[in-house]
Amino acid sequence: MKKIAVLTSGGDAPGMNTCVRAVARTAAYNKVKVVGIRDGYEGLLEGRMQPLDARDVGGILQRGGTVLGTARSEEFYTEAGQQQGFKQLKKAGIQGLVVIGGDGSLRGARALAALGVSVVGVPASIDNDIWGTNMSIGVDTALNTIRSAIDKLRDTASSHRRAFLIETMGRNCGYLAVMAGVIGGAEVVLIPERELTIPEVADAVEKAYKRGKTHSIIIVAEGASVSTQDLAAALDKLNVGFSTRVTILGHVQRGGRPSAFDRLLATRMGVKAVEALLAGQSDVMVALQGREVEYLPLETVVNKQREANLEYFEMGRMLAF
Ligand code: F6P
Repeated sequence: MKKIAVLTSGGDAPGMNTCVRAVARTAAYNKVKVVGIRDGYEGLLEGRMQPLDARDVGGILQRGGTVLGTARSEEFYTEAGQQQGFKQLKKAGIQGLVVIGGDGSLRGARALAALGVSVVGVPASIDNDIWGTNMSIGVDTALNTIRSAIDKLRDTASSHRRAFLIETMGRNCGYLAVMAGVIGGAEVVLIPERELTIPEVADAVEKAYKRGKTHSIIIVAEGASVSTQDLAAALDKLNVGFSTRVTILGHVQRGGRPSAFDRLLATRMGVKAVEALLAGQSDVMVALQGREVEYLPLETVVNKQREANLEYFEMGRMLAF
């Protein structure tokens, strides 16, 4: 293999740059040329590429976001788009591709592999909704951002004897909310995988108030069936003891310098992805299983959806007593 490409796609995640660096340096060490594709599949369709030598990736290891840029390309979901992407890779003489991104990006990688491109996927999404890997790149950093926000909000919640509703990201997966609930000591967590009704939430908050708690932390996953604002209004109406305030954490969760854990994970995964291509592997994703980074068929990964672990959900509920 003489020339490979790397792209980042979908929602950015802290650690993507660390992974790009690991890919470029591993390839350079093995005398393989690397090009960086700009703005994910959108850039691939237009053939927007740049050489990525060992020196080009200096100083990016610790930076949040992605220096390559990213996008959510609707066109690449179509067969015509995938054929166009395939043609651009052939035209540029690219023999292998590393795709760093979330589930939609990995589906795109699968489509290119089906067309005959040697592709290795690297899971990167703060949602941690990718099946087959314990952790995706960016999750740990996002969780630390959420933890820091909860700690600060608790200070003011407790001073004013208020209930704070804190909304976390994660479209269809409650992972961030559940884990935030455990590490932040939330009274209630609302996630798509385990619905709670408004009366159930009100009951839990009111009981906590009566047990003498000075504040209440309620984590609402973005994908929960009730909106955070509606829930706050309902709790105020039901007079649960605490008055409410809402904080939507939003995209702040996607930014920032990658944590030590994410840097290590992104580095290991980037190295392993290039090693897979050099060993002639394709149509696989690198995945953290136990303490090891292993390979899984992309076909298996993209056909399943990882859900939040309900054991942690129950643990959080117990510890809110
Ligand atoms: O998939 C990552 C994620 O941050 C989700 O948690 C969120 O629903 C979505 O991306 C937001 O996407 P965008 O930045 O395109 O609005």
